[in-house]
Amino acid sequence: TKTYAMTGGASGIGAALKESLQARGDRVIVVDLKNADIIADLSTVEGRQHAIAGITELATDGLDGFVACAGLPPVAEPLSLITQVNYFAAVATIEGVVDLVAKKNGAIVSVCSNSAPLPGLNEEHIELLLAGKEAEACALIETLDGHNAYAGSKNALTKWTRRNAAEMMRKGVRLNGIAPGMTRTPLTDKVFADETLGDATREFSKCISYGDLATPDMIADAMLFLLDPAARYVSGSILFVDGGQDALLRPDQF
Ligand code: NAI
Repeated sequence: TKTYAMTGGASGIGAALKESLQARGDRVIVVDLKNADIIADLSTVEGRQHAIAGITELATDGLDGFVACAGLPPVAEPLSLITQVNYFAAVATIEGVVDLVAKKNGAIVSVCSNSAPLPGLNEEHIELLLAGKEAEACALIETLDGHNAYAGSKNALTKWTRRNAAEMMRKGVRLNGIAPGMTRTPLTDKVFADETLGDATREFSKCISYGDLATPDMIADAMLFLLDPAARYVSGSILFVDGGQDALLRPDQF
């Protein structure tokens, strides 16, 4: 049996991945606010430590893979929660379990977003994230907006993933990112229901080549690939799974 751990496995994309892994007989350790093997609030340093300690206790032989999936939408409040969960918790949990994943020469997937390359992002905020300055980044984001909090956190997580892939590879671990496009989950329901971001998001969702939003299993299937030995030569890649939206919007950027 293979053993995987993930954050955010109680809902949406994470839950779809958990179900796929369990359906083929793999063991999955889930960290989330509820309905999880380890209940932890990843917005806090203590919560992240509790999560890492819990995974370490449950996966003594190591992990075949880890997915940092927990995340909050651009409409979460306060905005600093998005910074804490989407960026700092992802980085802290990945760093906290990397030795467990190295034991089995496994793979790590950071859950980024196809919103990461969108325009209008504050560079200073992204630099603070990448510099690990959580308090400063949280203070700055309160003066900005949900787009900066969300897409900014994903932009920094994408860069962090690319910057750290080589170091992880030296430990025998493959680190890749996945960049989902809009996917039908409780997270997008909250965005569509928002007075300010709802209409803008509906408009944005019209330019998806596939013609519709993703369902969570479409994203989970791509995550399964990144976790699988079939992807054994894939490292530092950001896999866009967005129905062609990024290629449509930025055909010459890659
Ligand atoms: P979701 O809301 O269905 O699931 C997110 C999970 O994260 C929930 O189970 C929630 O409890 C957990 N979580 C949130 N805050 C937490 C905290 N402080 N501590 C522990 N767990 C916490 O969302 P969805 O859509 O499945 O998103 C999963 C990931 O995919 C997120 O990182 C999101 O940013 C990313 N993503 C989602 C897209 C979408 O359109 N749904 C598009 C691109 C990326």
